[in-house]
Amino acid sequence: MIRSVVKGVGAYLPERIITNAEMATLVDTSDEWITARTGIAQRHVAADGELTSDLAIAASRAALANSNVHVDDIDLIILATATPDDTFPATATVVQAALGMERGFAFDMQAVCSGFVYAVSTADNFIKAGQAKTVLVIGAETFSRILDWEDRTTAVLFGDGAGALVLQAEESEGTNQDRGILTCHLHSDGRYREKLYVDGGPSRGSVGHLRMEGREVFRHAVVNIAEAIDEALEATGLEAKDIDWFVPHQANKRILDATAKRIGLRPESVVVTVGEHANTSAASVPLALDVALRDGRIKQGDMVLLEAMGGGFTWGSALIRW
Ligand code: UT7
Repeated sequence: MIRSVVKGVGAYLPERIITNAEMATLVDTSDEWITARTGIAQRHVAADGELTSDLAIAASRAALANSNVHVDDIDLIILATATPDDTFPATATVVQAALGMERGFAFDMQAVCSGFVYAVSTADNFIKAGQAKTVLVIGAETFSRILDWEDRTTAVLFGDGAGALVLQAEESEGTNQDRGILTCHLHSDGRYREKLYVDGGPSRGSVGHLRMEGREVFRHAVVNIAEAIDEALEATGLEAKDIDWFVPHQANKRILDATAKRIGLRPESVVVTVGEHANTSAASVPLALDVALRDGRIKQGDMVLLEAMGGGFTWGSALIRW
């Protein structure tokens, strides 16, 4: 069978960092509260005029260099974002033009924080269907632009950034020993819109600000994520002990710890970057992958579990042999 094999990863973070101490000068909060409740120590924020596409282009160039794949080989770009440059065209097409890609196709994917897992699953399906051989999957966000900087309950939680992954079709045996994506599981439940949403959009005539009932999202996150992970393990017949690296969506260190405990994952297998990046929505998983690859933790042949949960609600998991 055909598998979607990871060829390389790249990432980009804006230069400007806002520490918790600086955040405490902007809203009524403290380093102690943010650290204890979330594990976040700092976040990167895009410069004036720096757009989601700029972040995505930088991450994509890094991913192409890391994978030794030439831009002419890319058939498809999927860019997961909830903060596109413009209402249209898709930010993915801006990236396409900037990379000098004159063939193939490109589109955006909107599943908020679950966007990257949705995009990985979608890319895998295009590859398995034979419609694309090489896919550039990007998660890129500028959430700083949709935060209400007077609302301490949300302003302290998010950051900007981008990560990208190159997937390529390879013939394989069809076993769990194959390299590539082994299984993906996606969910959404629109009844929970009010728990996490932006109170604006093109049809409403404004950009709007992020609104969240944090405690409610937290409660659902642990349950939903654990279910999506159980599905991935059940589909492959693997067990928690078979997972080498757990690379979750980075929303809150307490959610990561609670999920790992619930599933029975070894604490040392959890890749945690929320402290340095905060919650970068669709960019958080590829940013975390990039860190764990560059520091030598993830190696070829390792079993890597991705998961995410976000507005909608949306959630999902993906199991990949690196
Ligand atoms: O990526 C999409 C998915 N998003 C998530 O997964 C986020 C999930 N939720 C969370 O991570 C947590 O619920 C939060 C970090 C958002 C909040 O932590 P919490 O432990 O659930 O706190 P809380 O909302 O129950 O608030 C506790 C207290 C409140 O004060 P009172 O009512 O107890 O007096 C808040 O007003 O903390 C107060 N508070 C703050 N204090 C200082 C809320 N935000 C802040 C703040 N600084 N920034």
